[in-house]
Amino acid sequence: MSTDQPLRWSSNGVGIRTSSECGSEAYLRPTRPPEKLRPDAIKVTLRLLAQTGVKRVFTSAIRPQEQAFFRNIGFELHEELLLLSNDLSTHIPTPTRPTRRAPRSDWPQILEIDTSAFPQFWRFDKVALAEAIKATPRSRVRVNTGPSPQGFAITGRAGRQGFLQRLAVRPTHQGSGLGRSLVADALRWLQKRRVYEVLVNTQTQNLAALELYESMGFTQRSDGLAVLRWDAER
Ligand SMILES: CC(C)(COP(=O)(O)OP(=O)(O)OC[C@H]1O[C@@H](n2cnc3c(N)ncnc32)[C@H](O)[C@@H]1OP(=O)(O)O)[C@@H](O)C(=O)NCCC(=O)NCCS
Repeated sequence: MSTDQPLRWSSNGVGIRTSSECGSEAYLRPTRPPEKLRPDAIKVTLRLLAQTGVKRVFTSAIRPQEQAFFRNIGFELHEELLLLSNDLSTHIPTPTRPTRRAPRSDWPQILEIDTSAFPQFWRFDKVALAEAIKATPRSRVRVNTGPSPQGFAITGRAGRQGFLQRLAVRPTHQGSGLGRSLVADALRWLQKRRVYEVLVNTQTQNLAALELYESMGFTQRSDGLAVLRWDAER
């Protein structure tokens, strides 16, 4: 399988895409609740993937019930994540750094920021960026104003449920209030639309993100998320 031709398809209640950077890796996202997934059908999909050269399949960040399903068909823990929620009851500060809507023409710079801010495994490619924006019926993509974007946030809304889908600031521009401004902008947008709960997840060791989220009214939930991994050669 060529690394410059990532594949993407959906079947049997899961969306699959191969990595654009590494053809032996693929990502799986459940699109149905676990009780509506068929273990045998997914095992067949995994075998087909293996036949095309895929060696590892990673799930998206999934909840405990979904984790149990995928562990039963041979997936193992790859990384635990923290899930945080915010009921928007605390004061949201006024953003100190102005932001603007980011049209599609900003995507190349957004992807550059993403690559500079995240470790390799978590980096977005164009497909993942599009998926994050389309993951909810409504979304908001913002960058800082000024000559060039140095940080961005993707916020989603499904009815009265909000999601902070993605947040990153270029390392050279971190620590100057842009991250907090992007989160404040996101929360204000959601609050205006009468959202009752905003969810975000982050890596357990990501202290900068954790401190930022907690200082903006998010609290850690007990039902954490995890990314699981399936190895073809195990
Ligand atoms: C998390 C991130 C977006 C913060 O952006 P930023 O522009 O540096 O954030 P700010 O300057 O607005 O700082 C806001 C708060 O974050 C926390 N913070 C930022 N950097 C920190 C660090 N190195 N260590 C601990 N806390 C930190 C602090 O609470 C800070 O508040 P303070 O300035 O009052 O102390 C940025 O570090 C980043 O892009 N990280 C990599 C990508 C990522 O982890 N995204 C979030 C994934 S869920």
